[in-house]
Amino acid sequence: MINQHELLTTAARLLVDVHCVVVFTGAGVSAESGVGTFRDALTGLWSRFDPQQLASQEGFAADPGLVWRWYIERLTTIENARPNRGHEALAAMEKIIPEFVLVTQNVDDLHERAGNRHVLHLHGHIGRFRCNGCGAAYSLRAGDREALMPPCCTICTGYVRPAVVWFGEMLPEQELFEAWGAAERCDVMLVVGASGVVYPAAQLPAVAQRHGACIIEVNLEESALSELADITLIGPSGEILPRLLDAMYACEAKSAFR
Ligand code: APR
Repeated sequence: MINQHELLTTAARLLVDVHCVVVFTGAGVSAESGVGTFRDALTGLWSRFDPQQLASQEGFAADPGLVWRWYIERLTTIENARPNRGHEALAAMEKIIPEFVLVTQNVDDLHERAGNRHVLHLHGHIGRFRCNGCGAAYSLRAGDREALMPPCCTICTGYVRPAVVWFGEMLPEQELFEAWGAAERCDVMLVVGASGVVYPAAQLPAVAQRHGACIIEVNLEESALSELADITLIGPSGEILPRLLDAMYACEAKSAFR
């Protein structure tokens, strides 16, 4: 039986020895910053709603004010949150891995605020806004946050909405193209805090594996991606990732003395 420490050391050695690493993150990486994940039951006043219903054209059409208020509340939570030690470890890894590509399903900006420079957001950005009708870009104005209804577009009178990808909508082409290409050429994919149940994003680890990459997973529990993983490190990413980074530094120090 291999213990967690040996798994972590093996994972660190892999990450230090290779050229190209893709990191693929889900909501779990932001959980320890106080940003709720999708499949954890919604809390408080949102507990009676299904996020998959709210994050959809149907949900927005049915009650634009409810969806608007849900996103503004989530945006406020994110703005008040801080990157956790897992985000910071990934930012440090970017500095020591020759080719490092960070692909996230998350709509928060915690990876960027932790210091990662090039983040591919497959599901958009909660802090950006656009018209649901004509796509015109918008910024929040004073009063929009407190409004009970979303602002109206000044061009086509459609409602303004967050620039995130809703269920049933297409992912941003350029980001998906870059993420797919990186998955095909990477030597290792590190999957962090992803349930692996939402496609096409969840396809990326299988694409990487099909092209010969090793898959390392960090999650609180087994996920739909665990059977693909060569190494699964169970635990909170805010604890596992800093330990993985320390083990990478130790591997580097050892090889420096060879
Ligand atoms: N550390 C590591 N993993 C964690 C932690 C943590 N502290 N907390 C939760 N997790 C794991 C959960 O075990 C789960 O596997 O993170 C995963 C979160 O899963 P989801 O809530 O499904 O989030 P995600 O995988 O990002 O969802 C994908 O679905 O709802 C859509 O667009 C939305 O981008 C989202 C997509």
